Amino acid sequence: MTDLVTLAELGGPLAVIGGAAYARHAHPAAYWSTVGLPLSVARLLASYSSTMDACGLTVEPSRWRALAVRATTRREVRPVPPRRGMIRPTSTGLRVRLRLAPGQEPADVAASAERLRHAWGVHAVYVRDVKPGVVELRLVGYDVLRKVRMPRRIDRGLLRVPVALREDATAFVRDYRAVPHELVLGATLSGKSMYLRHLISGLAAQPVALAGIDCKRGVELAPFASRLSALATEPDEAAELLPVLVKEMEDRYDLIKARQGIAPGTPEEEITSDVWGLPESERPAPIVLFVDEVAELFLVATRKDEERRDEMVTHLIRLAQLGRAAGIYLEVCGQRFGAELGKGATMLRAQLTGRVCHRVNDEASAKMALGDIAPEAVDAACSIAPELPGLAVVGDTSGGWSRIRTPYLSLADAAATCRESAHLAPDVPALAPFRPYVPPVPAVASGTATVPCPVTE
Ligand SMILES: Nc1ncnc2c1ncn2[C@@H]1O[C@H](COP(=O)(O)OP(=O)(O)O)[C@@H](O)[C@H]1O
Ligand SMILES: [Mg+2]
Repeated sequence: MTDLVTLAELGGPLAVIGGAAYARHAHPAAYWSTVGLPLSVARLLASYSSTMDACGLTVEPSRWRALAVRATTRREVRPVPPRRGMIRPTSTGLRVRLRLAPGQEPADVAASAERLRHAWGVHAVYVRDVKPGVVELRLVGYDVLRKVRMPRRIDRGLLRVPVALREDATAFVRDYRAVPHELVLGATLSGKSMYLRHLISGLAAQPVALAGIDCKRGVELAPFASRLSALATEPDEAAELLPVLVKEMEDRYDLIKARQGIAPGTPEEEITSDVWGLPESERPAPIVLFVDEVAELFLVATRKDEERRDEMVTHLIRLAQLGRAAGIYLEVCGQRFGAELGKGATMLRAQLTGRVCHRVNDEASAKMALGDIAPEAVDAACSIAPELPGLAVVGDTSGGWSRIRTPYLSLADAAATCRESAHLAPDVPALAPFRPYVPPVPAVASGTATVPCPVTE
């Protein structure tokens, strides 16, 4: 009998603990909102001063403060931690602002991020510089990249596409006007096409012309054909499309020159303005060119193809060098992008400012994408697990880097988005001959079409 009572007494709490552990693993967001958040807030409030002290983030109190403490209490005068702002809970973690004491810098707090995360029992702590003297601690409650959910409020705009989630639970926005060209590297099945899929379906709803070169016979880009203004699925077609894009770019430069009242003979490099300076009625639509598997353009089977390859590479380099001002942007995908691809590869890579590196097979590939950003970024890219496709390391324009992961988006959904926004494709006459053939959508299955409608009385 006593055994039964003990079992019943133990069973309840054990079930609660087991349930909490299960919820923490299976539903981390729900766990955070119900259990994790209150626990972490309590820990933070209870141990704030002692934790800051242990992390070496406290300073000697001012003379006035020391005098006041001595006069009013008999306690010894203790060092003071940075002044803390209000704790702001979020669905993925919490935020709190700290006012740095004189002599402290954000890097001091960032250096203790790992210690703070253990002290307060959260998944990670990030430090953001808000304004001089103030930093924001972003505590992330759980691994948000395991099951990606994009934040609800995102700052969108023309040529800005929220494409993935950063590890600090903020959205990673691909902003073509800030970073005109980007290189997306990764081994097969690492998530490159998923990344492109998000970009294409994000841009589909905007007045932007989309062009694609997919030398894998179009298997990746053809599903989006209804929204694409141009699609090349063979190196031969790419060799025809690229000069047309270069010509379009030159025409746009002429347009800008004409607007500025400069003689049409002026060399392009001397023009400082861009299409965005033109009045809206005259401004040509921006064009984003997606190149999936760029190595296919570089590799040649015969000596005869070599000339064509050199021409294509030169055109790509010109687009990368001068395209931004003409509103032409590149998104280049590949498995490797090193000097071994031949003449022009390194030069083209140097023009691609944005770098996204998915899982790679060797360190050399990661170095091709991130080597010039930070050695830690290369290490981070090399340690991406195959179980997490879509996870990538992205180099920031500021020289920093962070881990990101795209949410899952099925090909069918992305293709449907493109079909629905097909009418939004802007008119770029030069690209008209390259407009892909779009097979008519198959009629709705007869089963659903003949569902009997109840007659209302
Ligand atoms: N963010 C993601 N979340 C879940 N699954 C993903 C994600 N990104 C890619 N995948 C899956 O991984 C596989 C490979 O992705 P894909 O984009 O085709 O890789 P790649 O183009 O690099 O070969 C696909 O089955 C895809 O559904
Ligand atoms: Mg792919």
